[in-house]
Amino acid sequence: MDIFVIQGGRRLDGTVRVSGAKNAVLPLMAASILADGPIEIAGTPRLRDISTLGKLLAHMGASVETVGDGGDGREAVRIDPSGIRNPEAPYDLVKTMRASVLVLGPLVARHGRARISLPGGCAIGARPIDQHLKGLSLLGAKASLSEGYVEIEASRLSGAVVYFDMKTVTGTENLMMAATLAKGTTVLKNAAQEPEVCCLAGALRSMGADIEGEGSDEIVVRGVPALRGVRHEVIPDRIEASTLLLAGAITGGDVTVSGAVPSAMDAVLQKLAESGAEISTVPGGVRVRREGPIRSVNVETSPYPGFPTDVQAQFMAYMCLGDGFSIVRETIFENRFMHVAELRRMGARIDVSGNTAAVKGVSALSGAPLMATDLRASASLVLAGLAAPGTTEVLRIYHLDRGYESLENKLSSLGACISRVKE
Ligand code: EPZ
Repeated sequence: MDIFVIQGGRRLDGTVRVSGAKNAVLPLMAASILADGPIEIAGTPRLRDISTLGKLLAHMGASVETVGDGGDGREAVRIDPSGIRNPEAPYDLVKTMRASVLVLGPLVARHGRARISLPGGCAIGARPIDQHLKGLSLLGAKASLSEGYVEIEASRLSGAVVYFDMKTVTGTENLMMAATLAKGTTVLKNAAQEPEVCCLAGALRSMGADIEGEGSDEIVVRGVPALRGVRHEVIPDRIEASTLLLAGAITGGDVTVSGAVPSAMDAVLQKLAESGAEISTVPGGVRVRREGPIRSVNVETSPYPGFPTDVQAQFMAYMCLGDGFSIVRETIFENRFMHVAELRRMGARIDVSGNTAAVKGVSALSGAPLMATDLRASASLVLAGLAAPGTTEVLRIYHLDRGYESLENKLSSLGACISRVKE
């Protein structure tokens, strides 16, 4: 297994380009199941989660290929769903990536049935899919559970009003996709408002779907008989962009993230500004500079447009060097403080009570060997390692490779001393 070796204490400086958004590509890949022709997704990052979903679609019978230039050297994924005969997602694929659940709605809508291994929990929480199943049942599907699989059937889905008990990103995406081919009108209430949901709605609309309201908490979908294949450009990854900006802020550097969309990151940019970093929008990107002390600020995660849970761990690493106390509250997942024990090993002062962490800033962290546990916690440890004088080794970075495309190269281009070493 690979590890990262970081010589920290160096300020980062320069410009780096953000990759396409993993959490936008995954639902777009699932949406290909709905189409009568091939889908091409341009600007896809080279990530394990994306190849895993590609393997799952191929297992079902689709043809999946990565084609060269998705625009300025980036890749594109091309999926032809016409060969799909086997609407099943086996445990050995789903267990490595719970986002496989995104094939559920499209399979039921297009093929009338699906057999999906129930995604287990993961490091950050139980992450049930009850809202997905409730919504599909309201659209007329019959769901049953057996041997760890959920089996769903529907002769043809019918539009309905679906109220989500909580904001669920993939729940909203699954139901939006299923509703595109249902008979009649579906209204999704308390819908998730993330940019990735809007990106998917835009792609479905260009495929011929009749959708309105994405980005608000009420999405209306009027069913159509069929959807066509399209080419769709994926949005930039706001979580990766936030992580790269935090790398600049935590090292007291001057970093510009090109391709970042400031309007998709308001909550993060505002917290960075409150902490004393200077944030500026530049042509085609966002710039962060920090020269003075890090001011400790409080953060509470919430559904978009609130502070993203996927940036909580990275921001906590930054607050470890604050000039006072920072209260970090995690309201989305029940176990998303796995990075705390590792940060403490670097000298961080963090006390946790339930879903709240009190971070007392220290003047410096010190490098140490650390263990990554989940995707965003591993990014948090990398940021802390960049700021801490001495050597930091981050083990099990396969977690990180799920969501960050060659992060070590991006950080090295900004002056970081970081290398990937085979263990
Ligand atoms: C998406 O996960 C993202 N993944 C996650 O990013 C992100 O952290 C999360 O949204 C929240 O923003 C993808 O988009 C592929 P949810 P998702 O359904 O859709 C509960 C990363 O780091 N819930 O919005 O699985 C759930 O347990 C990943 O890239 C139910 O109880 O999250 C959680 O507490 C990690 N029942 C809350 O809702 C359900 O049926 C929000 O979950 C569905 C969700």
